[in-house]
Amino acid sequence: THIDWDVDLAEKGGYPDFMLKEIHEQPRVVRDTLAGRMAGGMLTIDELDLSHDELNLIDRIYVIACGTSYHAGLVAKQLIEGWARIPTEVEVASEFRYRNPIITPTTLVVAVSQSGETADTLAAIRDARVRGAKVFGITNVVGSPVARESDGVIYTKANKEIAVASTKSFLGQVVSLTLLAMLLAQSKGKLTTSQIKLLFKELADTAEQIETILSDTAAIDKAALACKDACSSLFIGRGLGAAICAEGALKLKEISYLHAESYPAGEMKHGPIALIDDGFPVVAVATQSPTYEKTISNLQESRARGALIVAIATEGDTEIEKHADYVIYIPKVRDCFSPITASVPLQLFARAIAVARGCDVDQPRNLAKSVTVE
Ligand code: AGP
Repeated sequence: THIDWDVDLAEKGGYPDFMLKEIHEQPRVVRDTLAGRMAGGMLTIDELDLSHDELNLIDRIYVIACGTSYHAGLVAKQLIEGWARIPTEVEVASEFRYRNPIITPTTLVVAVSQSGETADTLAAIRDARVRGAKVFGITNVVGSPVARESDGVIYTKANKEIAVASTKSFLGQVVSLTLLAMLLAQSKGKLTTSQIKLLFKELADTAEQIETILSDTAAIDKAALACKDACSSLFIGRGLGAAICAEGALKLKEISYLHAESYPAGEMKHGPIALIDDGFPVVAVATQSPTYEKTISNLQESRARGALIVAIATEGDTEIEKHADYVIYIPKVRDCFSPITASVPLQLFARAIAVARGCDVDQPRNLAKSVTVE
């Protein structure tokens, strides 16, 4: 018998490109990143090598990273401040390294880097350590410079990511940072054991929820086709939705070359709304959250000016269809876990547009997988 064997297809696991394969690996990434973290009702991240008391002393946090990893940091800020009540700043590493950040012995620097070898992030780590900060690295690559040069490291368990546009690594970073936020809150006594247990269970449930999203992408593809010929687009959301939008817009720019900007939705009337005319795509993260109604008002304002609205919304939302041209429903999750689920349709949306525009989704022009020079 003769068997047709295509090495390229085999490497991609039958998917047309690595990006799609990696998007589909995300439920596994969630499961692997969480494996072994809960013992006897206590969250543990042994690799961090800090005692309960040392963790408890932390009173300021900087998350430093570049690109997509920076966006994972934007999520982390909101979770750490919300749960652990520790003031947290997120900075792109290329800025952090050249200023004079306020660092004391109780400052924690969290350096996030998929590759573990981004030049600016490494330089920022070195600078932070010289200034006396403890540095935790969050990386996907075992033994990478970020892992070696940090005081403690959390591995994101995404496994090798080949597509230049980061997807599964981002998910791994967000899950790891969510765990870190929970751990800090646990140490500070801001979350009780039963709260931690419940949150951990719901966090683990996101793996299945991502599977649900991946099982039917028709609505995403339809919305992508409607937007593919645009020259520019806006991504809007509030709270964690704003962080998700920053990543959604970057993904779209990177692989489809369609210009995309993200704004916290409340900033629309301070400038960006001037961009909107007939058919201008506005992508909104409008999942159930404390600011849902506010985001709906922003959609109404955009629609009144002719925008073509694509909304990511929560299953069972009966309101949203009145305010959007295309609705992509995702399973209901607690707001703090929405970055994990709502990012997935935005990854697929960017990819579908890139494919429709004939772009090479795995190797976009001008970009490299890791940026080891300044
Ligand atoms: C992600 O899609 C990008 N290719 C890019 O922004 C990347 O996240 C950035 O260069 C940081 O890389 P790192 O996580 O390996 O440090």
